[in-house]
Amino acid sequence: MEAARKTTPEPRDGGSGDNQMRYWRLDKRPRVEIEDDCLSLQTTPIPVLAEGEVLMRVIYLSLDATNRLWMEEIENMYMPAVPLNTPMQGFVLAEVAESRNPAFKPGQIAMGLGHWASHVVTDGAGWMALDRPEGVPLDLAFGVLAIAGPTAWFGMMEIGRPKPGDTVVVSAAAGAAGSCAAQIARLKGCRVIGIAGGADKCAWLKDEAKLDAVIDYKAENVAEALTRIAPDGIDILYENVGGDIMDASLANMKLGGTVVVCGLISTYNGAMGGDAGTGPKLFHNVILKRLRIQGFVVLDFMDRYGEAWAELIPWLRSGELKFRLDVADGLDKAVDALRSMYRSGNSGKLMVKIGEER
Ligand SMILES: NC(=O)c1ccc[n+]([C@@H]2O[C@H](COP(=O)([O-])OP(=O)(O)OC[C@H]3O[C@@H](n4cnc5c(N)ncnc54)[C@H](OP(=O)(O)O)[C@@H]3O)[C@@H](O)[C@H]2O)c1
Repeated sequence: MEAARKTTPEPRDGGSGDNQMRYWRLDKRPRVEIEDDCLSLQTTPIPVLAEGEVLMRVIYLSLDATNRLWMEEIENMYMPAVPLNTPMQGFVLAEVAESRNPAFKPGQIAMGLGHWASHVVTDGAGWMALDRPEGVPLDLAFGVLAIAGPTAWFGMMEIGRPKPGDTVVVSAAAGAAGSCAAQIARLKGCRVIGIAGGADKCAWLKDEAKLDAVIDYKAENVAEALTRIAPDGIDILYENVGGDIMDASLANMKLGGTVVVCGLISTYNGAMGGDAGTGPKLFHNVILKRLRIQGFVVLDFMDRYGEAWAELIPWLRSGELKFRLDVADGLDKAVDALRSMYRSGNSGKLMVKIGEER
């Protein structure tokens, strides 16, 4: 997938210093965490648009757990690694600043795969215009509707297929995708157990997101807690974490249960290559419990986003779906903000505010 031009051949100001754009460049592939020398902030002139191109002024950058994986060469990855010495890629919400493409009008709001940058030049492929949903602030609309909400909705509805009364477990339940997935299951009549790290996140899940039960994996043994809270077993596991937390749920699945593999964030900092220390280690439960297990990538559902939005937008408007935004201020903060995600540092959907809403 490539939707944004990476080179800046013809500066509009002849390089005089006006009309500059800033961006994070990927200089080196991370080894474990995103080390300090992996990305650097660059400034370059905004280029003159070619026929068919659009200049997007970025307002919000979505930071997603998977961004760390895009920095690395990973076999069988769903998209090519970000090439070295090019702008780091990410999903952005932007205003059309200039357009030589009839599909985009100046002033329009659009979202798509862009760069960690103040501006993006794109041919518009992979971008969609976003009508501001009435009654939903723009930051909330972007936070839910771009990635987290559709991820949760397609994972839960297409793969999990919840029925009223089902016992559903969601890991990283206080995060962006997890909090939506857990509440979708609740809104479909399920009994929902969220797993999250820390008292504050667990209190939010109980008091605001109205989950039936929560497990603080930093304070208690998850397998024991699940045996106590779900003695008849788990019908649907919506997995975001992997490792020991996934093992605890696998051991507590009901016969014939379903495992939705949305993410394995505990393995992203250098362990995707198969570090023997990372789980799941109790995978034999897939056989013993006759489980249906399926992974998915939300990008495969992009042409069906409208189906998810048809439920998500009314839930947001009515307040039935609660969602927390964790917004870092300014492009400079992007790298530190993303790093914080792998240390439980974010509370809700992590985004960076780069430009003003108008
Ligand atoms: N399949 C897809 O298409 C798709 C799309 C979007 C997201 N995802 C996946 O969904 C998951 C959540 O992503 P998100 O972007 O919504 O982020 P998020 O849940 O808002 O933030 C990540 C959270 O994961 C938890 N976490 C991080 N490292 C952990 C570890 N080692 N052990 C246990 N928990 C850990 C932390 O919560 P605690 O404080 O609770 O520890 C952290 O706040 C990720 O696995 C991501 O890859 C998949």
